[in-house]
Amino acid sequence: MAKFLAVCQLDTFASGTMRNIQIGKKKIVVIRQGDELYALEDRCSHENYPLSDGFLEDGKIACAMHGAEFDLKTGEALALPAYENVKTYIVRMNDGMVEVQVD
Ligand code: FES
Repeated sequence: MAKFLAVCQLDTFASGTMRNIQIGKKKIVVIRQGDELYALEDRCSHENYPLSDGFLEDGKIACAMHGAEFDLKTGEALALPAYENVKTYIVRMNDGMVEVQVD
């Protein structure tokens, strides 16, 4: 059964910002862009740099280390030097809280 972990209250989560969560060794970055919420593995597929140190653009995040870009919705690698996608997670709003589905 799917289990959801609370990240923060939606009204404290400004558009264009990120939150980090860690579950065991798994690090996840949660992103709000406008009314959309995204959650990705917080690890660039190029050399493992944290994506949460990167830069948000419309619908994508750019790694701060070497500039690889990833689609926020799908995790698809959009620009070299990364060519492997990153894992995405289901994120939802529930009773005013932002929650991420964890395995
Ligand atoms: S570590 Fe992210 S682009 Fe190199």
